Amino acid sequence: MPYICPICQSPLIQHIPSKGYYCANKHHFDMAKEGYLNLLPVQHKKSKEPGDSRAMMRSRRNFLESGFYLPMAKEIAKMIDKNRSQTTPMHILDMGCGEGYYSRQIETFCQNSADLDLHGIDIAKNAIFAAAKKQENAHFIVASNKQLPYSTDFFDLILRVYAPSNDKEVSRILKHEGLLLTVTPGPRHLWQLKEFIYKKVNEHDISVDLPEGFEKIESQQLSYTIQPDQDNRMALLQMTPFAWRAKGETLNNIQRAKGLEIETDFILTLGRCIK
Ligand SMILES: C[S@@+](CC[C@H](N)C(=O)[O-])C[C@H]1O[C@@H](n2cnc3c(N)ncnc32)[C@H](O)[C@@H]1O
Ligand SMILES: [Zn+2]
Repeated sequence: MPYICPICQSPLIQHIPSKGYYCANKHHFDMAKEGYLNLLPVQHKKSKEPGDSRAMMRSRRNFLESGFYLPMAKEIAKMIDKNRSQTTPMHILDMGCGEGYYSRQIETFCQNSADLDLHGIDIAKNAIFAAAKKQENAHFIVASNKQLPYSTDFFDLILRVYAPSNDKEVSRILKHEGLLLTVTPGPRHLWQLKEFIYKKVNEHDISVDLPEGFEKIESQQLSYTIQPDQDNRMALLQMTPFAWRAKGETLNNIQRAKGLEIETDFILTLGRCIK
């Protein structure tokens, strides 16, 4: 069973007729009609709508669906195929999956994707709602990465694309020798956007720290240039942590710039859990 109870940590068992889950201590979680589970108890919620807002999600979805990060998503699929598990299905979790874009690309671009058991977790309910609607055969839950309601040693691979994490929990739910694939920004990621915002743009520190108990298998850099139109440029800006700095004149300049080319730069790092 993949899930544990977020309240008492006992295994969750599925009640087949209703598709809901319950534990031995009678905590019960309904399956939403869109096919996702909400395993974030109210008492664990720090705000009414935790995670990315609906507006941020919409921006990210429009931008991603336009294909600007497709080369990176295809690289993720290639790395998964190169490191397929010995046993099937291969259990894969996308942590902080947002609206499930990468999970859908994995299903599209990985070979024999019927042998993949795809899971996604995000704290934002609106994002999981959208993810579950778009990919019926993947398993999406609303929960926090800080306390992952998954069984110990369940996953073969965890994907983390620009998302927060709890290292101890990641090691716990990965199998021995399970894999962690992280995508982080490279030194020149979105350089030309940053030039509008900062007086002097500094290159990112690209040293990627794998959590304790992981050994690096490989790391690769992927860089290419994109030319988003005005709307997608605004959406991209909303996806960045520096969006709040772009106001008034700066925002107008970014929006009006003609044919702006923007560099993307990603570091994909694959580590093995040696707990
Ligand atoms: C920058 S977005 C990245 C989304 C997606 N991985 C992508 O690259 O398109 C970060 C995501 O992490 C989610 N998030 C933030 N805090 C979280 C937490 N404590 N647990 C789970 N998800 C969280 C947000 O709701 C958001 O969807
Ligand atoms: Zn329970």
